[in-house]
Parts: sequence; C-alpha cells; structure tokens
Amino acid sequence: MQRERWSSRLGFFLAAVGSAVGLGNMWRFSYLTAENGGGAFVLLYVLFVFLVGLPVLLAELAIGRGTRRSPVGALAELGGSAWPALGGLFVLSGFLILAYYSVIAGWTLRYVFDLATSGLPADAGAYFDGIVDGGRAVGWHLGFMLLTVATVLGGVRRGIERLALVLMPALFVMLAGLAAYAATLDGAAEGYRFYLAPDFAQLGNADVLTAAASQAFFSLSLGMGAMLTYGSYLSDDAPLPRQALSIAGADFGVALVAGLAVFPMIFAFGLSDQIGGSAVGALFVTLPRAFEEMGAVVGTAVGLLFFVALAIAALTSAISLLEVVVATSMDALGWPRRGATLAAGGLIAAVGILPALSVDSLSLMDRLAGELFLVFGGLLLAVFAGWFARSPREAGEREAPGELWRGSWKWLLRLPVPLVLAYVLVRFAQNLF
Ligand code: PHE
Repeated sequence: MQRERWSSRLGFFLAAVGSAVGLGNMWRFSYLTAENGGGAFVLLYVLFVFLVGLPVLLAELAIGRGTRRSPVGALAELGGSAWPALGGLFVLSGFLILAYYSVIAGWTLRYVFDLATSGLPADAGAYFDGIVDGGRAVGWHLGFMLLTVATVLGGVRRGIERLALVLMPALFVMLAGLAAYAATLDGAAEGYRFYLAPDFAQLGNADVLTAAASQAFFSLSLGMGAMLTYGSYLSDDAPLPRQALSIAGADFGVALVAGLAVFPMIFAFGLSDQIGGSAVGALFVTLPRAFEEMGAVVGTAVGLLFFVALAIAALTSAISLLEVVVATSMDALGWPRRGATLAAGGLIAAVGILPALSVDSLSLMDRLAGELFLVFGGLLLAVFAGWFARSPREAGEREAPGELWRGSWKWLLRLPVPLVLAYVLVRFAQNLF
C-alpha cells in the first residue's frame, strides 16, 4: 500500500511548524526565561536550537523519511532488535507531556470563553490564580483533550492545515504588534535588559543550562519521535537541511518575538514580583494587562483573536504528541487507529487530571518529561543516528538519505551533540542530589 504523503512540501512545512510552534514558544519560553534569569537562558537557548537541536531535527526527519515508518518500526529497521525500546521512551514522553500540555491549553480555552462572555478580567493576576487549577481547570483540560482526539480521529488534518495557514501568520502578526506596542511603554528598557543582556555568571548555572537544553528540544518537538513521524510522510525530493533550517528558524522567531512582547510588559507594568511567585503564569498574566490598555472593545477583540490563535497553535502541537503514542501502539501492539486513539486519548485525559488539580505537579511533570526525557531521548537518538543506524534499504536509489548518512552532519551527531547532551544530563542529575 502506498503510504500517505503530505499533499505538498508546504503542507509538510506547515504541519511541522504546527507541531513546533505551540504553547512551548509562548507559555513555556516566557516562563522559563522569567525563572532562569533572562538573557543568559536566552543565549544558551539559541545555541542549543541551532547547534544541537538542528542536527537532531535533521536526523529525525531523515530517519523518518528514509524508512517511511513510525518510530518503533524505523528504529527496528535501521538498528535491529534493541533500539525499538527507545520507542517506549518516546511514547512515555508524549503521554506525559500531552497530559499537562492539555491543561495549559485548557487555560487558553477558558480565556477565550471568558473574554467572549464577560470581557477582560479586572485583575489579571487574581483571575489567573482563580482558573489555574481545581475542578474548572479539569473541565477545560478534558474539553481540550476531546478536541485533540476528535481531530486525530476525524483526520481533519487538512482542515487544520488550512486553518493553521491563516491563523499562524495572524498569531505572528499579533505578537509582532504586541512587541511594537511594548516598546512604547515606560520602563520597557529594563525588560529588554533582563531579556537580552546575558549575565555571564549564569552561563555555568546547571538549572539555566538544563532548562535551555530542554526548551530547545521541547519547542522543536524533538527527542520523542514526533518529527520522525512527520518526516515519514515527506516526499523524497524535499531538501532536508533546508527544511530543517526553516522549521527551526520559524520556531525560534516566534519565541523571540513573544519574549520581546512579554518582558518589556512585565517590567513596565510592575509585574516582576508577581511573576517571581508563579512564573508558570508569566504569559497569561502579562498579556491581558496589555489588552486592557487598549480599551475594552479593542482589547477584548485583540485578546480573543490572540487566545483563539494560541489555542489552535496548541492543538496542532497536541496532535503530534498524540500521534506518536497512537502510531507506536498501532505498530507495536497491532491496534487499529481508532481504538488506539480512543484508548490513548482517554488514558492521557485521565492522567492530566492531576496537573489540572495542582500547579506544582504540573511543573514537576514538565521537569520530568519536558526536560529530562526529551534531552535523554535526543541523546539516544543522536547516538543512534551517528553510530548505529544502517543506511535505509533503498539509500542507493535515493539521493536524500545520504544527506545524513554521508554528510558532515553525521559527525556532529557522533560526538559533539552526544557529549553536550550527556553533560547536560550529568548537571541535571547533580542538581537533583
Ligand atoms: N513543540 C511544541 C510546543 O512548543 C510541544 C511539543 C513537544 C510537541 C514535543 C510535540 C512534541 O508547544
């Protein structure tokens, strides 16, 4: 049977960017930047995206396209019997990440609903504290999971692709607009200083280092097989390095601009104390303040559009998280797609009740799965691609896989990337004990 393909290169690019651009670029990026002292974190993040993330992204795309299989099958085909076990780690990561990702996406839906029904909150900080956990948060989380499962089941990827085609640029334009607006605020300079001027003493801080490495993986959807799976539907003639670079560039651009909007506002509105208390809410507390300044009508409209776009960005990412769990259980257990989607979706929704009830457990799950598992998965994948992977069967006939298996990329994946990631993991472990 002919395997599904993306309708076009643009279709693939949108799907991959759809997976990469999500809550990670906005919610997680601003939260980690706030928590890890600003500029030093951002500098390390940039280095990780382009020096470590990019080669791993290329490896995932090349392995996926070279084998045209989902992670477990691909690892088995190129690596033999032991490697498919890595697929188990991928599934666990996807499972845990989606469980709390959906909770945050639920906050986004809640913002949309409340903005539409009662306008902007009077006190954004108090409002956020009120919705972040508890029974209501559970409800919105379950609602978002329902949307995700329905999308994967209904195969409305086409619809999503089209919607994303309009809303992603809209989101970006709005972010850029917010960043421009933030630049006009009194006190913005202090925000830029925090965000962009690295405190070099922090570069050696283990927390900052592991946070930056994990953010690069999280934001690029790496280390858990999502990009590998998407790559498996990609046509043979698409130039992988260029595709990978555009994906990473787009993803990075969104995060960078989001920060340019959020940090001047945090300082100009005097929110830095509030943010320190619950950095998790950095984005959700600052933006409504900016919308408020625009006046009730305009502010509500812009806020609505913004949170709708954010929810769509979250949905296109959540789909890829679920897809890895589903594709792998289909591969490994032989389940039909429908059963696998319902079972996985139901189980993930149930596990997500915990982070919906407590923000502390949400941060903990993010540290464990979003941080440790992705970096570890990325390390193993780099070692696999650099040392153990056989060339795909038809490599001789295809020009494309040679880009990975013969190119200089392989040397990056052999030593520099694993060494850096191993160092990150050692620092992470040292920090725990
Ligand atoms: N990259 C997505 C985001 O930034 C999250 C994600 C992580 C999606 C891992 C798939 C796999 O929101």
